[in-house]
Amino acid sequence: MSTHDKGCILWFTGLSGAGKSTLAEFVAPLLREVGKKVEVLDGDEVRENLSKGLGFSKEDRDTNVRRIGFVANLLARNGVVSISAAISPYRAIRDEIRSKCQAPFVEIHVAAPLATVEERDTKGLYAKARAGVLKQFTGVSDPYEEPLHPEVTLHTERESIEESAAQVLLYLESQGLIPKGSAAKARG
Ligand code: ADX
Repeated sequence: MSTHDKGCILWFTGLSGAGKSTLAEFVAPLLREVGKKVEVLDGDEVRENLSKGLGFSKEDRDTNVRRIGFVANLLARNGVVSISAAISPYRAIRDEIRSKCQAPFVEIHVAAPLATVEERDTKGLYAKARAGVLKQFTGVSDPYEEPLHPEVTLHTERESIEESAAQVLLYLESQGLIPKGSAAKARG
């Protein structure tokens, strides 16, 4: 198998509203254009299907995130670029998924600060969390443990989506997971 037929996990992690889903959906077609098979496991979508009925306690989040990790690994070891876009707030669970992964695991910290995502408040959830209507809200009343050694860190508060996506593609190029020149091609 050429390295370009290899799957991997792209594990986006970060606060709600940091840009994980947007980036996942932006990067996916770029990877398809350079010949990769891609699946996106989006937090909100997974919670409607695979994790229906789970809440936001530590136990439920861990179950949710482990399920995503399990499916992502099945896909990745079969040549798919599996993209996860869940908050996945606990470092130990992310590290556990990394250690079990049978393909390269690329942790991507979508590192917009709380102040930025709270100001954007795209879904109006931070206001509800501050008002105490939404309990255990990540970053407000529940923990978010930043990755210590992510493969890629994206500062979505000051980078364009194209710039952030290019960093992901450049990293994949550097690891031989996509052909050289893919990032430049994606930028057009
Ligand atoms: S995770 O912690 O289990 O990884 P996940 O990414 O699936 O979370 O779901 C996060 C999404 O659920 C948020 O983007 C938001 O839309 C919604 N949500 C509802 N309640 C909460 C909460 N208490 N904390 C964080 N997100 C919440």
